[in-house]
Amino acid sequence: MPVLTDQVPAHTTRSGPLFSSDKTTVIFVLGGPGAGKGTQCANLVRDYGFKHLSAGDLLREEQDREGSQFGQMIKDYIKDGKIVPKEVTIQLLENRMVEAEKEGKHMILIDGFPRQLDQAISFEEKVCVSAFTLFFDCPEDEMQRRLLDRGKTSGRSDDNIESIKKRFRTFVETSMPVVNAFEKQGKVVKVEAIKTPEEVYQDVKVKLAERGLKVNA
Ligand code: C5P
Ligand code: MG
Repeated sequence: MPVLTDQVPAHTTRSGPLFSSDKTTVIFVLGGPGAGKGTQCANLVRDYGFKHLSAGDLLREEQDREGSQFGQMIKDYIKDGKIVPKEVTIQLLENRMVEAEKEGKHMILIDGFPRQLDQAISFEEKVCVSAFTLFFDCPEDEMQRRLLDRGKTSGRSDDNIESIKKRFRTFVETSMPVVNAFEKQGKVVKVEAIKTPEEVYQDVKVKLAERGLKVNA
């Protein structure tokens, strides 16, 4: 099955969201690089039964897909810490949401997205309005320490000091405005992410309970 068609993505011509937010719960997971988004998402999948879609993982998969017309572009953007044009990322996410729906999964964690305001606007217009954004707040020096440590084994082209600096800049200049925009709508759940993964997760559970989400019994 193709991950991405070579045609114009379907969502660009659609008049409204494909999924109703009454039936599908989308939670965006944001935070700087190395804030612990992936780690905490794994906990949430285990305990709440979410479907986890990592935008970065989907882009890396598409980058490596044989015959992808976007492979080289994605590679260049990732190495440079820049945001891949939204049409590609949104289509990859939408494809996986369609699959998730077929599996009867209606609770979706979208990790590392939207990283730019235009992604947030298009996604909510054409795919699904988000319930809220879970935002992991972590100081840069701690994130840098984690990423350099991860870089020893991750094999990622962007876990080196040069790319890390660029990713931090992109986060502050391009992604924080998304968090601020959702904050104005009262749609941000902020968690301090400097502590240990276990301590951070305890906070996450408390904050999600305040939003009416309970661990699967
Ligand atoms: O989230 P993660 O750290 O895996 O993302 C790695 C890279 O993937 C980002 O630095 C960026 O280049 C790209 N990306 C993107 N748009 C997104 C998510 C990730 O361009 N929404
Ligand atoms: Mg990640």
